[in-house]
Amino acid sequence: MENKIIDGKAVSDQIKKEIAAEVADMLDHGLSAPHLAAVIVGDDGASKTYVASKEKACHSVGMVSSVYRLPETATEKEMLDMVAFLNKDEDIDGYIIQLPLPKHIDETKIINAIAPEKDVDGFTAVNVGRLQIGQPCFVPATPNGIMELVKRCNIETAGKNVVVLGRSNIVGTPVSVLMSRKGIDATVTMCHSKTKNIAEVCRQADILVVAIGKQNFLTADMVKPGAVVIDVGIHRIDDAASPKGYRICGDVDYDEVSKVASRITPVPGGIGPMTIVSLLQNTLKAAKHTVYPKQ
Ligand code: GUN
Repeated sequence: MENKIIDGKAVSDQIKKEIAAEVADMLDHGLSAPHLAAVIVGDDGASKTYVASKEKACHSVGMVSSVYRLPETATEKEMLDMVAFLNKDEDIDGYIIQLPLPKHIDETKIINAIAPEKDVDGFTAVNVGRLQIGQPCFVPATPNGIMELVKRCNIETAGKNVVVLGRSNIVGTPVSVLMSRKGIDATVTMCHSKTKNIAEVCRQADILVVAIGKQNFLTADMVKPGAVVIDVGIHRIDDAASPKGYRICGDVDYDEVSKVASRITPVPGGIGPMTIVSLLQNTLKAAKHTVYPKQ
């Protein structure tokens, strides 16, 4: 009998150990440590927290990290110049542009200026297209983390009904593509704000991936007994009783749903740590030119 709680933190710690060993091996062979850069624009608190945790994770496996900061008032031209610099800098293996960007910047234009071989977020049209047609690519961190967790926790997918809640470019759409791939072989239904009878659709699921961005959206009556529930949500809730003054919860009503599900990812400690470790995996691949072989 597998544990009911899917421990993303424990799995991510194991993967970090594997990455750290590969980084140490690169250094032993006279290579440089993989280098991940991040660009942060403006003063968004959540973005600063995410980038700080990515930096910490890099250092924990022996990778190099650097952060480039631009003011909220940065122009599109300044951003494109920054991207051109990062594309060219041979010391940087991969980089991310932390989203969201200020409203006056065309996010798609900036993202698509990233060299695909350095796009460790997997956000450029080239990597998204390659994912769609099954060519080597950088898979975005959250869907990659979900698939890795499913694999390492022996969650059966072949012939199963997977219901994905949410159709974002970062999670819902890529996870739907990956779940329906040959070798994974799930039957996928993607739900969104216009889906009719969403509770009924959810009750058909053997595996539910909840990435809808609404706190406590998935309730116990929407879950078939024995289903596997993967919660991708992250919400910060004010809580005077907690030492930090807040607590973190997901898109799933964990207390009630965990009574019905056979297995469930907690928030925090589920998909969050898997997402960060996936970025490290992609950075390692970028440094080793695994996805885009060096010309
Ligand atoms: N903003 C929220 N999630 C992400 C992510 O995975 N990558 C980047 N670059 N920005 C984000």
